[in-house]
Amino acid sequence: MTEQQTQQTAAQQDARALYETLAGHAPDGLWSAPGRVNLIGEHTDYNEGFVLPFAIPHRTVAAVGRRDDDRIRVASTFAPDAVEVGIDELESLFPTVRRAQGSGDAQQPAVPEWAAYPLGVAWALQQAGASASGVDIAIASDVAVGAGLSSSAAIEGAAASALNDIWGAGLDRVALARIGRRAENEAVGAPTGIMDQMASMLGEPDAAIFLDCRSLEALPVVVGAAPAGLAILVIDTQVQHAHSTGGYRERRASCERGAAIMGVPSLRDVSVADLGRAEELMDDVTFRRVRHIVTENQRVLDTVRVLREQGARGIGDLLVASHASMRDDFEISVPELDTAVEAALAAGAIGARMTGGGFGGAAIALIEQDSVDAVSDAVAAAFTERGFAAPHLFTVVPSAGAQRDA
Ligand code: GLA
Repeated sequence: MTEQQTQQTAAQQDARALYETLAGHAPDGLWSAPGRVNLIGEHTDYNEGFVLPFAIPHRTVAAVGRRDDDRIRVASTFAPDAVEVGIDELESLFPTVRRAQGSGDAQQPAVPEWAAYPLGVAWALQQAGASASGVDIAIASDVAVGAGLSSSAAIEGAAASALNDIWGAGLDRVALARIGRRAENEAVGAPTGIMDQMASMLGEPDAAIFLDCRSLEALPVVVGAAPAGLAILVIDTQVQHAHSTGGYRERRASCERGAAIMGVPSLRDVSVADLGRAEELMDDVTFRRVRHIVTENQRVLDTVRVLREQGARGIGDLLVASHASMRDDFEISVPELDTAVEAALAAGAIGARMTGGGFGGAAIALIEQDSVDAVSDAVAAAFTERGFAAPHLFTVVPSAGAQRDA
């Protein structure tokens, strides 16, 4: 058994044990959903553009069972107390967040943030017409929280899959990804796109998901790292800057401003050939935000083509260009992420870039399989040299999406 399978089994065991403590009997079933890394295509999702994420082996497990009343109780291994609400209270739990989004106020949800994910999913399913009934939900996870690996989408995916089955809602994977995003946007109040939920729902072994965020058409694209003798190293900087949500929101607003100036519904409709005109029309900062999105969309398309024509060895320069664009134009990198990328490249990585929303979190590096230790050591040494806390380093392979485990 691999280390990852052992970890997954541990999360399953933890979720089951927590459920049994909570409910006093065995759950009806176990459902799980993975975290993700994004190979390329950052901040393009809410611009209706292209992304290429893949699901990772680390998963969140929800042990779920029916109750004979109309209450929902959620417990998790990362919080001491369970949270219990009536189904008829769901609607009143989240409107404060929905109103706050309009006014720009950062109001907190009426339940602890971790509980807003599964309860938000229950609420969004109910809004989508599911006939909700009482359940107990126990959650355990081996997706690192705050690492930019979409631990929240993994909770949403596991909860949505479980409740979809138990409530007989019959929604497909794309519909469940939309449910997860609605929970994230309107229950938790994070203004994200749909990439993370789609990656967690649709992930496949050995493939990245080439997603058109306008049509939500998704195509698996073989990454083929292992057959080419390559590995994908995750460098979790363990840094999360306090302004990450504000920074994300602000970048989103810049993109909307840029699209308005160009007279298009979203930056998806601006091509590299339009950038000269864009530069004449907008201020320097807005232009650089726009240039990142427009060139990043093109890099996703190029990465898909190169993966198909040449395989994983061909995509290194695209990864490096993506990182430079996020560092210089979109300005969402931090010294720890730049150090991770520079140290990995200096130690022989074929390509490296920060992954996810930015302002902290993780970078990925595409490296020779036999250089995992050397690159890891070089990155760790660079962190020590600059006085940064030690990064968390591990390899990932593209893995399966949400599923019923038991
Ligand atoms: C976060 C969001 C995603 C996406 C990325 C940036 O992970 O949840 O929707 O916008 O940032 O690509």
